[in-house]
Parts: sequence; C-alpha cells; structure tokens
Amino acid sequence: MTIADIMQTAPVIPVIVVDDLEHAKPLARALVAGGLPILEVTLRTPVALDAIRAMSEVEGAIVGAGTVTNERDLASAVDAGSQFIVSPGLTKPLGKAAIRDDIPFLPGIANAGDIMRGLDLGLTHFKFFPAMAAGGLPALKALAAPFGQCRFCPTGGVSLDNAAEWLAFDPVLCVGGSWVAPRGAVDEAKVEQLAREACALRG
Ligand code: 3PG
Repeated sequence: MTIADIMQTAPVIPVIVVDDLEHAKPLARALVAGGLPILEVTLRTPVALDAIRAMSEVEGAIVGAGTVTNERDLASAVDAGSQFIVSPGLTKPLGKAAIRDDIPFLPGIANAGDIMRGLDLGLTHFKFFPAMAAGGLPALKALAAPFGQCRFCPTGGVSLDNAAEWLAFDPVLCVGGSWVAPRGAVDEAKVEQLAREACALRG
C-alpha cells in the first residue's frame, strides 16, 4: 500500500493515544467495525508500541505509528509492525530513513518551505498540521495552490463539525482526528457509532 492508498481508504484517520494496553484491541475492533480501518497510534505513551502490536491482530485493521519524530522512533515503529508512519513535521533524516525503509510516510507540513523540503525528497502526500491553528481551510487552500501535485490530510482541531468542509477541498484525501477515539475506558458501541458518523462524511 502506498501512502496515497492509505489516505484514500477512509475519510478519517483516528489519532489514537493508548494509555492502557487493555484498551488497544477493543478500540481497534470498534473503529474497524464502524468503517475506519486506518489507525494511527501515537508514540506518546509507554504502551504505544505494544498497542500497535495488539491492534495489528484485529482483522481488517491497518495500523501505523504517529508522533514519529526521528529515526529511532521509526525503527521501533517498524519493528512493532507499523504499516505506515506519521510525523508532526518533516526533517531530512527522517524523510530519508522512511524512504530507505520503503514505509508509507505521512509527514507534517505547515508552510511552503516544509512542502518544498518534502518535494526535494520525492514526497507529495502530507499531513497539514496543526490544521486549525495554522490557519484552517483558507490557509491550506493558499498553500496548496502552488503545489498542484500535492495531497493533504489536515489534522489538529478537525472535528465532526468541520471535517466535511475540509474533505470537500479536492487536494484533501482524508482528515485526521482524535475525536473518534476518546481516551480512557472503551465503550465499543459508542466508538463504533463515532466511527460510523466519521465514515459517512464521504457518502
Ligand atoms: C494530534 O497530534 O494530537 C493530532 O493532531 C490530533 O489532534 P486533535 O486532537 O485536534 O484531533
């Protein structure tokens, strides 16, 4: 799968923070059941790598690592079975390592210089982060104009209320957000319902 395939699998990529390993599988099951198979597990908690391993056992789940900020994180994420990686920003060492390891990579960008650094590396698919704080849809529209070959996944402040607007902009293939995967004990029926609503954003 390429990063483009991953971005086109579902309209929303859940941004997941797992505090308790017990939550991992039920959360993955509920999200997949609701129609969101692409799961971004952030490397922000001690159990994140084990959560990636556990979630990868759920049928239909395509699990990746988020908050990957350097080559060491990348190696651990790949070792845990991540099928893609997401980073909040783009550095040359991380970009080169992801390309070398041939792992689908979605790096964060917030300005034209970031995009140009990505293009230099051969990357064209980016996370626009932090989407709302960096200026929202008007900012992405302005930024996307000179870079017609690029596609985006806005993340950061995206919600059920504003996701449809982002998705209506052609260069946006999907959005990322934590609203579909609340932290804490997992209410599978509720998460499945949140996933269903998110999945229906693109009819
Ligand atoms: C993050 O890295 O936490 C993501 O940007 C998620 O942002 P959100 O919580 O605003 O969806």
